[in-house]
Amino acid sequence: MVAEEYVLVTGGAGFIGSHTIVELLEKDIPVIVVDNMTNAVGGKEDDELPPVLQRIKSIVPPEKSQRMVFIKGSYGDEEILAKIFTKYKVSSVMHFGGFKAVGESKKLPMMYYSNNLGGSMKLIQVMQKHGVTKMIFSSSATVYSEPGPEDLPLTEKCPTGNCTCPYASTKYFIENMLKDLCHADPSWTVISLRYFNPVGAHPSGSIGEDPKGIPNNLMPYIAQVAVKRRSHLDIFGNDYPTKDGTGVRDYVHIVDLAKGHTAALDVLDQKKGFVAYNLGTGVGTSVLEMLKCFSEAVGRELPFKMCDRRPGDVAEVYCDPSLAAKELNWRATKTVADMCRDLWSFQSKNPNGYAS
Ligand code: UFG
Repeated sequence: MVAEEYVLVTGGAGFIGSHTIVELLEKDIPVIVVDNMTNAVGGKEDDELPPVLQRIKSIVPPEKSQRMVFIKGSYGDEEILAKIFTKYKVSSVMHFGGFKAVGESKKLPMMYYSNNLGGSMKLIQVMQKHGVTKMIFSSSATVYSEPGPEDLPLTEKCPTGNCTCPYASTKYFIENMLKDLCHADPSWTVISLRYFNPVGAHPSGSIGEDPKGIPNNLMPYIAQVAVKRRSHLDIFGNDYPTKDGTGVRDYVHIVDLAKGHTAALDVLDQKKGFVAYNLGTGVGTSVLEMLKCFSEAVGRELPFKMCDRRPGDVAEVYCDPSLAAKELNWRATKTVADMCRDLWSFQSKNPNGYAS
């Protein structure tokens, strides 16, 4: 009998990881989830499946979801990784694990470098040791050097680096480390997916984004205003040179983004070396437009105040997603209205996230 081949998913209890696991299981691909639960709600006991993975079991048919193995631990823990690679046949790794709060990374840079960079190095070294040389890396639009209007839409050829915060630098450095590795050893293939602004939730309303503490990002914040966990939205600046003065971003539905990963997995064996793709819609939407669209999904106006700009924010960012369309056969299909509807479905059913 041929041993089943697993995809190892680091950070699988997080927002993007969990939605990607649904897509993998739906495609009959067995997954091993490694997560230390520092940034997600855990089970009551250590060996209990965390709520997000229990909910995945309610979305995906049992014959598929039983092919998910959960291991509580850090993706940078060599001992845990060695046990996994010895026990299971791992064909590739989807690496979502890592800290991701911009503000926190400015206050605690060493924690970010140690966890994101140090952890990724250990993971890669254990992969090397066990002859696993295929990775899909969770990167970010934030690796691009601060774009001016003349740089839009951002293509994969746009300059990277000169990052605005340690979080972004870790993504940039990990990409470079993976590039060097692919140059040195042709058996490696890495697809780096540069996400624009992932939002929304699974259409079932069972899984979604559940940030710890005060949300840093726009849509989880608006969603918490809608369930009255926050009094109002602060809009960070209305004097940008954009269509209505507020910041413009390329919001992409989380299920579209998750499908970008299975599309990348489909071509991983045919690719060589390091390749990066933008995952976005190519369409820019302003803060006021997002607020209006989400208010329509909720069915009432949501309170907001105009405030000063948030330091480090740029006026406008959106991508050219045509390389992913051409080479991964992937396109975002869902609209901003779909994103708002599905986010509201999750937030209204789970006002306190997975602790609800
Ligand atoms: N915004 C508000 N109020 C809020 C939060 C955000 O007005 O409470 C505005 C921002 O100023 C920006 C837009 O909403 O114009 C989007 O902000 P997000 O924080 O949701 O998203 P960003 O584009 O700033 O952040 C994204 C990723 C991060 C990444 C960052 C790098 O989500 O992971 O890009 O710039 F680090």
